[in-house]
Amino acid sequence: MTKRTTRKTGATSAKGDTTGWSVSPEGKRFQIPAAGEYAAEYRRVERLAKKARKEGREVVVVMGVGFVGVVMAAIIADTTDKKGKPSKFVIGCQRPSTRSYWKIPVLNGGASPVKAEDPEVDEIITRTVKEKKTFTATYNSDCLGLADCVVIDVQCDYLKHDLGNMRTGEADMAALEATMRTVGEKIPPKCLVLIETTVAPGTTEFIVWPILKRAFAERKIRTAPLLAHSFERVMPGREYVRSIRDFWRVCSGCNPEARKRVEKFLREVLNTRDFPLTVMDRPIESETTKIVENSYRASILAFLNEWSLFAERNGVDLIKVIEAIRMRPTHSNMIFPGPGIGGYCLPKDGGLGYWAYKHILGFEDGDRIFKITPTAIDINDTRGLHVAELTRDALRNMGRYIAGAEVLVCGASYRQDVGDTRYSGSEMVVRKLTEMGADIKVHDPYVEHWYELESQETYPAPGHSWSRFFRNQEGLRGARVGKDLGAAAKGVEAVILAVPHEPYLDIEPDWLVKKTGGPIAVIDCFGILSDAKIRRYFELGCEVKALGRGHVQRIKKEVGEKRR
Ligand SMILES: NC(=O)c1ccc[n+]([C@@H]2O[C@H](COP(=O)([O-])OP(=O)(O)OC[C@H]3O[C@@H](n4cnc5c(N)ncnc54)[C@H](O)[C@@H]3O)[C@@H](O)[C@H]2O)c1
Repeated sequence: MTKRTTRKTGATSAKGDTTGWSVSPEGKRFQIPAAGEYAAEYRRVERLAKKARKEGREVVVVMGVGFVGVVMAAIIADTTDKKGKPSKFVIGCQRPSTRSYWKIPVLNGGASPVKAEDPEVDEIITRTVKEKKTFTATYNSDCLGLADCVVIDVQCDYLKHDLGNMRTGEADMAALEATMRTVGEKIPPKCLVLIETTVAPGTTEFIVWPILKRAFAERKIRTAPLLAHSFERVMPGREYVRSIRDFWRVCSGCNPEARKRVEKFLREVLNTRDFPLTVMDRPIESETTKIVENSYRASILAFLNEWSLFAERNGVDLIKVIEAIRMRPTHSNMIFPGPGIGGYCLPKDGGLGYWAYKHILGFEDGDRIFKITPTAIDINDTRGLHVAELTRDALRNMGRYIAGAEVLVCGASYRQDVGDTRYSGSEMVVRKLTEMGADIKVHDPYVEHWYELESQETYPAPGHSWSRFFRNQEGLRGARVGKDLGAAAKGVEAVILAVPHEPYLDIEPDWLVKKTGGPIAVIDCFGILSDAKIRRYFELGCEVKALGRGHVQRIKKEVGEKRR
């Protein structure tokens, strides 16, 4: 799936900004609506909502149609009652920024704004928008006034100020807080507000609840807001839709009524019969569940970093070690960490917990308590730097220098068979190699634009590009993602297999060396190469290095001895 699908053009729009355009990843330009268009847009959505309500459907507004929100919105819109009749009408509300406005017209045309390996994403969006007509998108947040339920799927970031030091970072809740203020100003009093965004523990009760209460007081509403929390566990990839709909959920509410409402809502829209729902007493418990489960994952991945280095230096193939361990059912979810643990969630979620402990919950001894989670995130964030060392060493063994070498990086995204480049290990690899003077070429079958490189001034957020931790990054603006592997490989001196995308699993050494035009350095970051392929690369005069795979040296020696 390709998500980094937005492109900045002109000024960020606010209501009434007519200067901006928003361009889809395919290059289609959409003008951001002017102030005069808001009223007509509201009337359109109001008409649809009224009609839906007459037909007995509940009106649900989903705030933020990004990666998670758009698929969740489609799942809600696909809900039927016992008789098979659609029971929800969904309005996806997206702010009309230059980065994201294009998602609205694209969605309303029946197409998915996220590209996915899972065919069900396109199907469910086309079905709900075009056939069932239970899903529309709008930029006008006045639609909140029509809602029986609002689902919040906007981002909540964790901004890091230093490379490899999570502790100096901070939660960035600006989008979430702004959204909640708007929600408080506009929703009907009995509307259920469900936060799905991954938030710092305490956010729902100690930040959002007061915002809503204040807004209700200003509006002279006497009843308490109905506020609930239920985090997403979505896994973009081949099971994208199922990882939301057919997956175990956890939820909680700020008061008994909110808890009852959220439970009912989730039982209606998700497959809670086969994937039971866990209802917790308080939002801080469900918020903490999300943070702990992702910190646990980040920690077990980081832990393998030291064994990866051990393996490289002692002739051990960690891939085979992990396979052997996974035979034990109790250890079956152990996975090799690759060149870093990117994605939107694992690099930030532990940080949200660490930050909340001090800044929301008021404790001063965070550094005494939190040892493993910050270290794990720091290790994961910097693991990619070692890949640059391996590339340098492999070229050196061939009598070449990394400076001035053309290096092809295969895979820009953070995991296999998805197109999400957020905080990918590959970015760290590319930045370090660029600093060392390499010329980088990129190939990825799932990524259209690598915005973290192309638009360094705004990705992931203005002033927060990883480029600020490295020298010599300017040239990366020109990086384009190739789609033809053979063409991308032409003339390069090193190939880094950074992500195990399916097409890379079948690359034959003879084919690749023919395409590059001669022996190359091959760097395997993810246990992609079989022993037979490693052997063949050596036979072809290549040099092979691999993260966590010390046995490569043994294969090299055997090939060398055979030659003599
Ligand atoms: N992507 C994942 O794999 C994943 C997995 C589990 C949980 N999550 C969590 O889900 C949440 C959303 O993540 P995402 O990947 O969908 O992020 P995203 O950046 O793709 O989507 C957020 C969307 O919200 C929009 N938005 C921001 N402010 C808004 C406002 N005031 N009104 C309307 N729209 C607004 C943004 O423009 C954007 O389109 C995060 O908390 C994330 O941690 C994500």
